[in-house]
Amino acid sequence: MKLYIGAIAIVLLLSCADACAAAESMTQADAAAEKLATQVCSSCHGPGGNSTSPTFPKLAAQQQPYLVVQIKAFRNKTRGEQEAHDYMLGMASLIDDETAEALGRFFSRQKPPRGVPGDPALIANGKKLFEQGIADRNITACATCHGKNAEGNGIFPRLAGQHAEYILRQLTVIQSRLRESPVMHGIIRDLKPEDMKAVAAFLQSK
Ligand code: HEC
Ligand code: HEC
Repeated sequence: MKLYIGAIAIVLLLSCADACAAAESMTQADAAAEKLATQVCSSCHGPGGNSTSPTFPKLAAQQQPYLVVQIKAFRNKTRGEQEAHDYMLGMASLIDDETAEALGRFFSRQKPPRGVPGDPALIANGKKLFEQGIADRNITACATCHGKNAEGNGIFPRLAGQHAEYILRQLTVIQSRLRESPVMHGIIRDLKPEDMKAVAAFLQSK
């Protein structure tokens, strides 16, 4: 009996050893990611990922899975737009999977950006497009994937509070296929520049 209990204790101890090592390495990765985020990423993306310049997208409260997919997209060069080349490709090539996951966790738990008001008429048009799409041009409502409040979900990015200029730029490079995005290509194929402007103003205001 004593031997039996002893064996269980050893098994428990061993399984803890594995679990505890995993937990420890996770906190190590998280600590390293936080340091990287505050010392490197923040110089462009702003403190806590709340950037002030529209050249640099806000990362605060962005979906963790989306962030990881994007870091890998820069690494694999499937984001071929100019700004990606100029700023992100070199850096992303130095980020391994574990760090990418931890960086994603760091930015996803930061305070969401606050919306910036804009032209009410433009915003109203953008809201309609976001919530209802444009049936006669086969444009699906953006909310279907990006969420009712543009908060995103998993690999579907949060768009709420993002810089309008950045959103406009991404819609343009996705439409022209400089940035690969199989899901988005079909949906925004017939989106006109004025639609893009409206939806970008709406999203920035959220
Ligand atoms: C020198 C400036 C600079 C630094 C430093 C920088 N970035 Fe970026 N980052 C950019 C720019 C510019 C873009 C937008 C690229 C584009 O328009 O395609 C971007 C885009 C991104 C995106 C895509 C966001 C989205 O909404 O799709 C992610 C994720 C990202 N950066 C993560 C990071 C992380 C993590 C770090 C730190 C390890 C970092 N960046 C450091 C300039 C920078
Ligand atoms: C069927 C799902 C779906 C629909 C509908 C959809 N999107 Fe997307 N969208 C995605 C996915 C997935 C991505 C991420 C693409 C990637 O990984 O590069 C994305 C990315 C984006 C981005 C880039 C965000 C960033 O941070 O770089 C913008 C902007 C965007 N979508 C706007 C829109 C707008 C505006 C509409 C409506 C006209 C729309 N989307 C409809 C799935 C969708």
